[in-house]
Amino acid sequence: MSHGWDHSAPGWIAVMGKGGDATRAHVLDAPMLAALPATGRALDIGCGEGRFCRMMASRGMQAVGVEPTDALLRAQAQKRDPNGTHLAARAEELPFDDASFDVTVFYLSLIDIPQFRAAISEAARVLRQGGRKLIANLHAYVSARPRIWPNVDSHWVETGDLPRHMAIDDMQEERSTPSRWDEISVTNYHRPLSAYIQALLGAALILRDFADPPATGPDPDVNTHYHRMPWAFFMAWQQKQGA
Ligand SMILES: C[S@@+](CC[C@H](N)C(=O)[O-])C[C@H]1O[C@@H](n2cnc3c(N)ncnc32)[C@H](O)[C@@H]1O
Repeated sequence: MSHGWDHSAPGWIAVMGKGGDATRAHVLDAPMLAALPATGRALDIGCGEGRFCRMMASRGMQAVGVEPTDALLRAQAQKRDPNGTHLAARAEELPFDDASFDVTVFYLSLIDIPQFRAAISEAARVLRQGGRKLIANLHAYVSARPRIWPNVDSHWVETGDLPRHMAIDDMQEERSTPSRWDEISVTNYHRPLSAYIQALLGAALILRDFADPPATGPDPDVNTHYHRMPWAFFMAWQQKQGA
């Protein structure tokens, strides 16, 4: 299977469908949307096919998406919302003035961004004083699984006399990891949670909220799965006033 986001774009679009996958639709959307202000200018960094830009725009925000994968940006994000603003750019070097956004968003994109410290610093630079930085990301123990990601249950190990458990390894070691599922094959990046927290504190941001959001979808079995092992976390940070 060819590797990388350009090759994986059709598979990604298929997996997202119209409403997003379960982790987005039934776990992360609720806290991410609840943390948005009623109005303002929002930047979605690594916006993919533009789903969260469209959600923010439908709530009255001026949403801007940046995305380096052309097959997601032009073929999908701009096509699905021709009035939206989507630019080709990387998180590590944002083409915007200082303090030009009320909100910056990383919606399951930090896991894909190679230079995450530069990305966090850039997202803080373009955020106005008092502005909000919203982050949804995979938990570190999910990205620390020693096996590749063939399906959603792959982190469970059932061997010998041991009860069902998760396999993780090298938790403290920042590294790239291959991730493959469905028709998608991309590079993810594992970092311990402290690496993200330290980078965010280093950007002079204040932590306002943190959650392992519960799943609230229609399938109780899926909800139980997320309860046993929260897949993703939510964080809301704020740019200091007078910073
Ligand atoms: C898992 S997808 C998430 C897309 C979207 N945020 C969503 O929730 O559907 C990760 C995205 O990060 C993008 N990405 C990869 N490297 C990036 C970088 N250096 N800067 C910004 N985005 C990047 C990928 O192209 C991909 O669209």
